[in-house]
Amino acid sequence: MTDIRKELEELREQICYHDERYYILSAPEISDYDYDQLMARLLRLEAEHPDLVTPDSPTQRVGGRPIEGFKPYNHRRPMLSLDNTYSESELRDWDERCRKMAAGRNYSFVAELKIDGLSISAIYEETYLKYGVTRGDGVVGDLVTENVKTIRTIPLKLRTVWPREVNEIEVRGEVFMANSVFEKLNEEQQEQGLQTFANPRNTTSGTMKLLDSRVVASRRLDCFVYDLLFDATKPFDTHWESIEWLRQSGLKVNEHSRRCADIEEVLKFCNEWAVRRSELDYEIDGVVLKIDQTSLQEEFGATSKAPRWAVAFKFPPMQAATRLRSVVVQVGRTGALTPVAQLDPVLLAGTTVSRASLHNEDEIGRLGLKIGDWVVVEKCGEIIPKVVKVLFDRRQEIEGELEEFQMPRTCPVCSAIVVRNDGEVVWRCSSSSCPAKLKNSLLLFASRRAMKIEGLGKELVEQLVEKGLVKDLADLYYLKFDDIIGLERMAKKSATNLLEQLQQSKTRELEKFVYGLGIPHVGARNAKILVNHFGSIDKLAEASE
Ligand code: IVH
Repeated sequence: MTDIRKELEELREQICYHDERYYILSAPEISDYDYDQLMARLLRLEAEHPDLVTPDSPTQRVGGRPIEGFKPYNHRRPMLSLDNTYSESELRDWDERCRKMAAGRNYSFVAELKIDGLSISAIYEETYLKYGVTRGDGVVGDLVTENVKTIRTIPLKLRTVWPREVNEIEVRGEVFMANSVFEKLNEEQQEQGLQTFANPRNTTSGTMKLLDSRVVASRRLDCFVYDLLFDATKPFDTHWESIEWLRQSGLKVNEHSRRCADIEEVLKFCNEWAVRRSELDYEIDGVVLKIDQTSLQEEFGATSKAPRWAVAFKFPPMQAATRLRSVVVQVGRTGALTPVAQLDPVLLAGTTVSRASLHNEDEIGRLGLKIGDWVVVEKCGEIIPKVVKVLFDRRQEIEGELEEFQMPRTCPVCSAIVVRNDGEVVWRCSSSSCPAKLKNSLLLFASRRAMKIEGLGKELVEQLVEKGLVKDLADLYYLKFDDIIGLERMAKKSATNLLEQLQQSKTRELEKFVYGLGIPHVGARNAKILVNHFGSIDKLAEASE
C-alpha cells in the first residue's frame, strides 16, 4: 500500500473512533480543535487524491449538491405503525391477547422509550451504508440516502463482520433532534431574523425532506435504532439480541431499554418514564412494548396497520389549563414583533409557567384567542411552553367582556410605524434607531458565538442604550472608564474588566465579527463562507450584489 493510502486509512479510522467516542458514547478523548485538525488533513488529502475517496470516509457526511427530488423505494417488509394504548387496563388487555396467542408458551418483553421523531430505514450492503429511506406510507418510502449520511450516529460502515450468505442488512430506527440542538437552532434562526421552528419533531421531518443535504448536515440530527433485519428476516431468537448486535455494530441504541419478565415490570417501566421523561434531552411520547421472542413475533403477525406483538403506551401530553391575562409584544433585533402570552402561573411538568410564546399574529388568529380566555399550554421536554388551544366552553364562566388582541400598528418600544412585508408573517418596526433593535443587536454582537464580550449582558446593554452612551455597535469601543463607572452595579473592578474585554474582543477572528454584525441571512455558517472568500472586511464591503 502506498504511503498516501495508508495515511488516508489511518485518518479515517481515527476520525471514526473519535466520532463514536463523541456522538455515541458522549465521552470524547480529544479536543474539538484536534478533531478538526484530523478532519482538515483528511479533506486536504482527499482533495489532492479524489480517486482515493471511499464511500465510508467521514468526509462523505458533510452533505453534497442539492438534488432534484427523491426517488421512491419499495420497503422489502412494510414499515408498520403501532397500536396505541393509554391506560394500564388497555396494556393488560394486550398482554391477555398475547397470552391466548402464545397458547401456554412463555414469553417476555422488551420495553423501550418511544422516541418522537421520524422513522427511518438504513440499508447496508457488505457493511457499507447503501440506502437511507423514509417510512413514507409504510410500503413505499423516499430515498433520502444523502440526508441519512449526515447523521453522525449512523455509521457509514458497520463495525461487525458481515454475516455469510446475507445480501442486505436493514436497520430501522427513529431520527430525532435533541432538545438542546433544537434550542440552539431556534436561537440562530432568531438571530438571523428568520422564522423559528415549532418543535423538534416537525423540524426533524422537515429537515429530512430537504433536497440540500448540506443544510441537513448543519441541523445535527441524531438517531436511535430499534429494529434489525437480515434479508428481510429477523436474525436472532430474541429482540434483545438484535439490539445487542446493533450496539456492537456501532449504531446507537437507547440505553434505557429494559427486558421485562412480565406485565407488572412493563407497567413499572411505563410509570417510571411518564415521570422521568423531562430528564431526557430528546422527546418521547410514550413507551413501546415488544414481545422479546422472535418466533412468537412471526407467529402473532400483524394487521394491515400494526404488529400484534408490539404496542405503544402513550403518555398524556404535558398540558395544563390556565388563564391568559395579557399579551406583551416584544421587539427583536431585526425589529420583529413577537406576541408573548402572560398567564396565571400554573405548574407544568415540574416548573411554573407564566409566559408562553404566541409566535405571530396569524397564530393568534388560528387559535381564536381573546384576552381573559382559559387556554391550554403545552410543554415538550425543555422547550418553551406554547398555547395550543382556547377552552371555548369555559367562556361562559368568565365574567365581563373578553378583549380581542390587536397587533399594535406602531412599535411598542419606539412608536415608529410597523410594517408587514408581502409573504411574511411577522410585523417589523420600521425605525432604524429603535432602541429595542439596538439593544438586541448589541447582545448578538457580544454573544459567545460572536465577539464574546463577557460582562456585556442584558442589564448593562439596557443602561448603555438608555443613557445614550451607545448609539451603534462602534460606540462600544469609544466607552471610557468614566462613562461606565457611574452605572448601576458597576464597580471599579467590573468597569476595568469590561474595558479589557472590549479590547480583547478586537482579536476575534473576522468571521466572528461578520456574524456579530447581524446581517440578515448571515449566520455563523454564511459568515465563515463570506470571510473565506473575501478575506477582509473592506473587500466584503466592496462586493457587488
Ligand atoms: S417499533 C413494527 N420502537 O413509533 C414495529 N417504534 O407510532 C414498529 N417509534 O413508526 C416500530 N420509538 O416511528 C418502535 N422504540 C421504538 C420506537 C418506535 C419510536 C416510532 C416509529 C413508529 C411509531 C409508531
